[in-house]
Amino acid sequence: MGTGTGMSTRILSALLLAALVCKGVDAAFSRHSFPKDFVFGTGSASYQYEGAYKEGGKGVSIWDTFAHIPGKILNNDTGDVANDFYHRYKVTENCYWLVSISDDVKLLKDMNLDAFRFSIAWTRILPNGSLSGGINKEGVAFYNNLINEVIANGLKPFVTIFHWDPQAQAHKDYADFAEVCFREFGDRVKDWTTFNEPWTYAMQGYDNGAFAPWPAVRLYRSKYQPSQHGQIGITVVSHWFVPNSDTLADKRAVQRSLDYMLGWYLDPVVHGEYPGTMRGYLGARLPRFTAEQVKMVKGSYDFIGVNYYTTYFTSSAPPPKNGLQLSYSGDIRANTSGYRNGVPVGEPEFVPIFFNSPFGLRELLLYTDRRYNHPILYVTENGIAEENNASIPIKDALKDGHRISFHAKHLQFINHAIRDGVNVKGYFTWTFMDCFEWGDGYLDRFGLIFIDRLNGLKRYRKQSSYWIEKFLKR
Ligand SMILES: *[C@@H]1O[C@H](CO)[C@@H](O)[C@H](O)[C@H]1NC(C)=O
Ligand SMILES: *[C@@H]1O[C@H](CO)[C@@H](O)[C@H](O)[C@H]1NC(C)=O
Ligand SMILES: *[C@@H]1O[C@H](CO)[C@@H](O)[C@H](O)[C@H]1NC(C)=O
Ligand SMILES: *[C@@H]1O[C@H](CO)[C@@H](O)[C@H](O)[C@H]1NC(C)=O
Repeated sequence: MGTGTGMSTRILSALLLAALVCKGVDAAFSRHSFPKDFVFGTGSASYQYEGAYKEGGKGVSIWDTFAHIPGKILNNDTGDVANDFYHRYKVTENCYWLVSISDDVKLLKDMNLDAFRFSIAWTRILPNGSLSGGINKEGVAFYNNLINEVIANGLKPFVTIFHWDPQAQAHKDYADFAEVCFREFGDRVKDWTTFNEPWTYAMQGYDNGAFAPWPAVRLYRSKYQPSQHGQIGITVVSHWFVPNSDTLADKRAVQRSLDYMLGWYLDPVVHGEYPGTMRGYLGARLPRFTAEQVKMVKGSYDFIGVNYYTTYFTSSAPPPKNGLQLSYSGDIRANTSGYRNGVPVGEPEFVPIFFNSPFGLRELLLYTDRRYNHPILYVTENGIAEENNASIPIKDALKDGHRISFHAKHLQFINHAIRDGVNVKGYFTWTFMDCFEWGDGYLDRFGLIFIDRLNGLKRYRKQSSYWIEKFLKR
């Protein structure tokens, strides 16, 4: 995508903002439009930020290994250095005189944010993946210092225990890893999520570790929660789906799409079994929970985190012709597309699979509220990217009006959902700083903060970071 798209996006953003301001909504719209205890934050993840992949006693994770295989990641990018967050989350005394050394947690504070979401790199804590290989004291110290720095700057740490970077085959050790986290950090960390986007993790073809967290939730509840008084939940990702036509077949395809993406994970934890649409069609291919598993899984959350990026049109599709070709995409029997008759469901974004559709977030929140017994919800990720393009001067790259409009609109739809009675307690932008975006490497800039990858990873505030600061003024 080139300037044409960027330009039209910018014009559209300006129009949207103008429309809001003219209606007189935007002027008064701020953190004070939300409940007092609503949490505004931004997010990150260890592999996407920390770098220092061989430092401080850290072991090798599956992402270290994977990113080093030539051709797996766009431009052969890796997270070896990433944002060097490991060294730059705060100014250390011996480099005070270096003006260019950043102080990332201070930037969070400057934006008036209430919370910072980050994950713990499994192999920084357990270098070979399991307790028997020993606990890495330096890794524990890093997270202790980070947590202390976050709290000292007036922010709450929202910690994801697992954000996709285990040691190979380590899922059986998940409960051990989680327990080290509860024990070492739980006196100060009051908001835990067990797993980020199990759907994405399963779709990427890593082994299915989705059920590893449940023993850890039981452990937290019986052993740590009574004295630490924190909450624990799971973060799922879902698109919103709009029927391509008014036919019952397309409406059913929408239900299947929600069940396969969201229900696959939420139905078990809320209702104790997989969605009916999956059980009926998959039959014996879908494992059945034992009574003991139901007891462990059902109700094992204090809140649900939802990551939302896009909406799609959805139509019914026939099962694959060859009945033996069993796959997720065949079983779902739904066809999703960002376009209907050539018209996009929302403004196409730089990341081609995403369409800017703020209304879909409210729909998703209303649906989740209805279907899953009115849970406490957090929007744990929501954001938009622009292209990493070295030929765009930095001063222009910082003008991200499209991002301001994106967050303003999504926050308005969350606000509507709250007025409709949905118990949404927080909103986290994805992401704090431009970072390593998995298979896309450093192509997508999702950050509120620009990172100059050609000049020592220098940090610059994008315009959206100033908008957030103003929006969140206390
Ligand atoms: C990068 O930006 C320049 C200047 O705006 C533009 O001409 C070029 O097409 C962009 N490159 C890519 C790969 O989109
Ligand atoms: C990635 O590495 C492989 C193997 O060294 C090389 O053939 C390929 O050209 C590299 N790709 C890029 C974009 O540098
Ligand atoms: C980790 O190291 C311990 C002790 O050396 C060993 O028993 C265990 O099998 C190792 N685990 C993994 C996953 O490599
Ligand atoms: C899926 O949707 C796209 C876009 O609307 C359409 O071109 C395609 O034919 C559809 N495929 C099926 C199998 O319905």
